[in-house]
Amino acid sequence: MEVVEVGVKHDREGFVKGDDSLLGHGAEGVVKRVKFLGRDAVVKERFSKDYRHPILDRLLTSRRLAQEVKTMARCRKLGIACPALYYVDMDSAKVYMEYLHSAKTLKDCLSEPLSSLQPICAKVGALVGNLHAGDIVHGDLTTSNLMMRTDGSLAIIDFGLSYLSSAEEDKAVDLYVLERAISNVHCEVAEKVNALILESYRQAFGSAKQVLRRLQEVRSRGRKRLMVG
Ligand SMILES: Nc1ncnc2c1ncn2[C@@H]1O[C@H](COP(=O)(O)OP(=O)(O)OP(=O)(O)O)[C@@H](O)[C@H]1O
Ligand SMILES: [Mg+2]
Repeated sequence: MEVVEVGVKHDREGFVKGDDSLLGHGAEGVVKRVKFLGRDAVVKERFSKDYRHPILDRLLTSRRLAQEVKTMARCRKLGIACPALYYVDMDSAKVYMEYLHSAKTLKDCLSEPLSSLQPICAKVGALVGNLHAGDIVHGDLTTSNLMMRTDGSLAIIDFGLSYLSSAEEDKAVDLYVLERAISNVHCEVAEKVNALILESYRQAFGSAKQVLRRLQEVRSRGRKRLMVG
């Protein structure tokens, strides 16, 4: 199987700064653009951490990779937009997936004028509602993990911390993380944006009412934590 990494210079430590195929360099690993069997693709590679015990490190890395792959497959089965999965290499902790061409993160979209945000928020609420209706908890629902494609469709990525749960608490925490991410970056439009998202979440997910009730509790716990510091 041929995997060509486009324009990549790398060493054992990671990737040379300024490498234009690099899409992300997070705490856990790197995400870069590659060609996979002639297709534009993304490879996400998790690195081992020297400060972790090697056995724990291997366990965490393979668990996150397996979780990412399982949830992507579940999303595709449920008709929830996420990149198509191309190939998984458990030994080197790499997952190859479809490259979402010219997609913008929700973070970037939220810089647009408030008047144009309504359809975006409706899509976010519907997508998260469908996710939760399928008992998928994302675990890291930030504005960088939702991507708007040029055709206006929204996709979700980065499932390393996801898990299956029917618990209202877990879904409420997912919503709270998203709400905080939006408020932290776009405080001027946050209130309106969050309200629009929850409105379409309610429409997409039959049990939304119970989750939203729980969200109130999660918010007040969060506020107390902020006050205590
Ligand atoms: N399939 C994709 N198509 C286009 N861009 C992508 C794709 N996957 C990831 N990206 C880009 O790379 C960035 C980082 O990807 P991702 O969120 O999966 O990794 P991460 O946040 O570093 O992962 P983790 O939280 O597991 O350490 C994304 O915010 C996005 O800009
Ligand atoms: Mg991410």
